[in-house]
Amino acid sequence: MFIVKKRIKDNEYYYLQHSSRENGKVISRTVAYLGKTKSGAEKKAKEFKSGIKKEIMEEEKPKKLENKRLTIDELTNFCKRKGFVYPSGDLYGGLAGFWDYGHLGSELKNNIKGEWWSEHVHKREDVVGIDGSIITNSKVWEASGHIGSFVDVAVICKKCKNKFKVDKHELSKKKCEKCGGELESKGEFNPMFTTSVGPIKEDSTKAYLRPETAQLIFANFKQVQENARLKLPFGIAQSGKSFRNEIAPRNFLFRSREFEQMELEYFIDPEKTKECFLLNKEIKKFELNVYSREMQEKNQEPQEMTVEETLSKNIIEFPWHAYWLAIELNWFFSLGARKENFRIRQHLKEEKSHYATDTWDIEYNFPFGWKELEGIADRGTYDLSQHEKHSKKDLKILDEKSNKKILPMVVAEPSLGVERAFLVFMLDAYSINEKQNTVLKLNPKLSPIKVAILPLVKKEKSLVKLSKGIYNELKEEWNTVYDESGSIGRRYARNDEVGTPFCITIDNDSEKKQDATIRNRDDGIQKRVKIKNLKEILRKLISQEILFKEL
Ligand code: GAP
Repeated sequence: MFIVKKRIKDNEYYYLQHSSRENGKVISRTVAYLGKTKSGAEKKAKEFKSGIKKEIMEEEKPKKLENKRLTIDELTNFCKRKGFVYPSGDLYGGLAGFWDYGHLGSELKNNIKGEWWSEHVHKREDVVGIDGSIITNSKVWEASGHIGSFVDVAVICKKCKNKFKVDKHELSKKKCEKCGGELESKGEFNPMFTTSVGPIKEDSTKAYLRPETAQLIFANFKQVQENARLKLPFGIAQSGKSFRNEIAPRNFLFRSREFEQMELEYFIDPEKTKECFLLNKEIKKFELNVYSREMQEKNQEPQEMTVEETLSKNIIEFPWHAYWLAIELNWFFSLGARKENFRIRQHLKEEKSHYATDTWDIEYNFPFGWKELEGIADRGTYDLSQHEKHSKKDLKILDEKSNKKILPMVVAEPSLGVERAFLVFMLDAYSINEKQNTVLKLNPKLSPIKVAILPLVKKEKSLVKLSKGIYNELKEEWNTVYDESGSIGRRYARNDEVGTPFCITIDNDSEKKQDATIRNRDDGIQKRVKIKNLKEILRKLISQEILFKEL
């Protein structure tokens, strides 16, 4: 690095330059503004070259980033400190099981939901989406079995006082899941929150906040099928809030009382369970880490096998069920989640919900162990039959080819909590670099902020104007920030920590050459590009049409 003096309109200014060889050419760049006097410039340059500011040099070399697995408490603290998630009503001590999302968390959450909707609804010919209400006619919950069967027993361990819920049929067999102690029953409870509809007490009716989004899909099934002219096999998707009065909300967002679900019911003709025309060669070869009922009963380890093998060995019964397991896993992997943290586990007989024929969970290796991330149940014809019985309406659909009326079955219900997906993406993205700084390596599609504009010199009016112009243009398309405070190294680190994939640096040469530097978060590599091409390049990088190294 070396100091250069520039004369601008009769005044002298000192800058720190750095030159490096790129593609055989020596490229010189301004690294920092050093002031108007030579002695001051020398002092600042010295400071800059030592300590934290030295990183600007190193950023040009590709770096090896290590990964550090966070504990759930460390993640909770990080999320609060950086503006992702806070305890709801924190000002008054919070409320267990309820969370508020800050300026970054709300963006990440919306991006997760957007990516899910885009992949599950917009990009598919066979799925449409709906948006049902949170409170509905309570007969829906009578028909679905949530009022009668969605009942647990609240228990407290006599020894360690741990509180949790158990299935009422299991109570006599169960011991404390923490210490193995005796359990004391605190009575049956239904986890649905109740409310009353109507302002006058005597006239009001009891209602429930929905405990799942799925039921609104069944209740609206016939209308949606007719309106959208859907033909079997097809899916109906919904995402939105669900509420459960959990006895022991714990592990940050993992078990909340208010959460969001992204659910899809995939309907097929019950006489065509073995036909799955979407199970192509690529999906058949897709690798699954399988933990079947038999493996669990025989105390065996999970096994890697292809979708094709799970079907030929009769481990998964229906091809559509295996197909949806692969699609769901692939959604996570395509957005940067780490394969080694995933497995699929079949429910044991006693675990299955009242509506399910067979259920496989996608489990994730959370910091507190392997737990359910997403359930994929085969619900058979349970729900539509129940709604036919209770509403006394015909929910069958006419198959035009055979002229037969069919009550479709749900061969797979991918049901994912947004909060659990949020935890997975945060945990798998979190890493610490060689300088012990946090780098949140989120997939750019999920990153809360896509681009940061960092002018190198904030005092020069024309440079600020150029930088602001770029900022205004980019923020038309993406969540973009403009940051001029602190050293450039500090600004890079600040953006790395919250997952901003690309930083644009504008320096003294930018005006003359009409170009700027793009810096890639994951390795610190920088490339010079023309300002007029910036938007198109960023569009390709964010959508991952091209990788940074291909620039
Ligand atoms: N419609 C099926 C259904 O609701 P579930 O297994 O009860 O099935 C599906 O829930 C998914 O919803 C879970 O895999 C999880 O991702 C999410 N979920 C359920 N309860 C939750 C809670 N208390 N807090 C956060 N997410 C929850």
